[in-house]
Amino acid sequence: MKNIIVLVSGGGTNLQALIDSEKRGGIKGGKITCVISSKEGAYALERAKNAGIPAVVIPRKEYGDSKSYSEAILAELNRQQADLIVLAGFMTILDECVTKAYEYKIINVHPALIPSFCGEGFYGLKVHEKALEYGVKVSGATIHFVNEKADAGAIILQGTVAVENDDTPETLQRRIMENVEWKLLPKAVSLFCEGRITIRDGKAFVD
Ligand code: GAR
Repeated sequence: MKNIIVLVSGGGTNLQALIDSEKRGGIKGGKITCVISSKEGAYALERAKNAGIPAVVIPRKEYGDSKSYSEAILAELNRQQADLIVLAGFMTILDECVTKAYEYKIINVHPALIPSFCGEGFYGLKVHEKALEYGVKVSGATIHFVNEKADAGAIILQGTVAVENDDTPETLQRRIMENVEWKLLPKAVSLFCEGRITIRDGKAFVD
């Protein structure tokens, strides 16, 4: 059984999708063994508690730079004997001390079709604001491995939704979460735990 550690910063609806999927037997070969939050009081912590999953808070605001914060995260991941790390609405970019130690073992969910609307500064609702500002007719979410560059790691799965004329960032976000994120994130996690993702030439393939 692989130890899955989920990193969160906010509401934790993606964490909930993972918890629900695990309960239904949808995550084959893995178990969520710990949740790490970058914020005290994040609602995701309630979700972990309700599911009986141990949680640790490592507050981002208590660390000056990304390097010292990432070192604290790395120490906890090692302590937890992490086999897979899932960034589920985790709003901090991790330093390469973490991404190198866990190469192809960190999965992120990004709420747009990478390589559009991604990289530093593109997170949460801002992504959907930018997509609507541009006037795209299709958007979606991407599940990808995390490397040293923001949102640039190998893509595992992507899914799309149509953008409606009267969409607000909030309605678009909700449609993408419901139709793509909450389905594809648990799916990618299961594929990883089943050993069905292989890397060739820096790209991820599902076998
Ligand atoms: C989700 O839409 C996720 O894709 C996004 O933040 C939201 C978190 O919601 N993540 C990013 O923007 C990371 N760059 P949640 O806390 O309810 O899962």
